[in-house]
Amino acid sequence: MQIAVVGSGTMGHGIAEVAAMAGMEVKLIDISWDILNKAKERMYDSLKRLHERGTIKETPDSVLSRVEMSTSYEIARQSDFAIEAVPEILDLKRKVFQELDKVVPKDSILATNTSSIPISDIGEITSRKERVIGMHFFNPPPLMKLVEVIPSKYTDPDVTNFTVDLAKKMGKTPVRLRVEVPGFVSNRIFLRLLQEACREVESREATVEEVDSSARNKLKLPMGVFELADYVGLDVVVDLWKVIVERGGTDVKCSSYKEKVERKELGVKSGKGFYAYPSPGKYSKV
Ligand code: 3HC
Repeated sequence: MQIAVVGSGTMGHGIAEVAAMAGMEVKLIDISWDILNKAKERMYDSLKRLHERGTIKETPDSVLSRVEMSTSYEIARQSDFAIEAVPEILDLKRKVFQELDKVVPKDSILATNTSSIPISDIGEITSRKERVIGMHFFNPPPLMKLVEVIPSKYTDPDVTNFTVDLAKKMGKTPVRLRVEVPGFVSNRIFLRLLQEACREVESREATVEEVDSSARNKLKLPMGVFELADYVGLDVVVDLWKVIVERGGTDVKCSSYKEKVERKELGVKSGKGFYAYPSPGKYSKV
């Protein structure tokens, strides 16, 4: 089984890592070798932690021997399944799908890791919209069990079944959506949390720390709402919010996330968000 992954950022490198851990051959594509080499370091670091904890028996080098990287789509010529994990911009995703449609064998499946864009809007650009599906992983992909599988109105049911099985082979717990709603199941819940947390802080009912303490200690979330927003990336939060609301989701008045993004405070990745992170890109709070 060969999987192509396009985009090697936060989600892409994690998805490539998960596929390689499951014994699959992986072709990882991005626009520059700088980005790809950084992705390789991040995969190595994660695999090392998993190996040291005994979660995986294989060494990081052995797992990574199944990952080939390239700046060219040509590498995906024999892939059985391709998944894109590029930023949440419809035109960009469509461009990636057009490229994949040209090189990946016609009977292979094209998947998108979009967190909120309707799959039909992406699939329509290809010559095989019935073989296009959503496969939405969560950050960090090596640890998060949930994978949402989202068929569009065009998707062949066999493609959906194949994708559900693939998620299981990767050790994940797939949730198959029945209706293609923006934000799918989990991000619609996540957006409500983000909105209410923001409203409480902006109306001075509670501080950021108090909201997060409540989320951890009452809701038993592994992270507070603002911590999770920092972890996911505040730019991602703003994009996700926009896409869901533009497609009919409920909006609330809140400027905190947008203001931080305007100040280039993106959370863990930039070293500062609602909290400060001593090494940008690494989740460890001061
Ligand atoms: N790879 C391997 N190991 C990792 C890792 C990674 N990427 N990230 C963390 N770990 C390991 C750490 O090394 C540590 O190992 P140890 O116990 O042996 O020391 C262990 O996981 C716990 O990590 P930390 O001590 O740093 O911190 P936490 O206990 O808080 O765990 C977490 C970190 C697993 C990320 C946990 O906080 C968590 O599950 N948070 C919620 C994440 C979540 O909800 N993600 C979904 C976001 S929404 C999304 O992605 C959708 C998108 O569309 C927006």
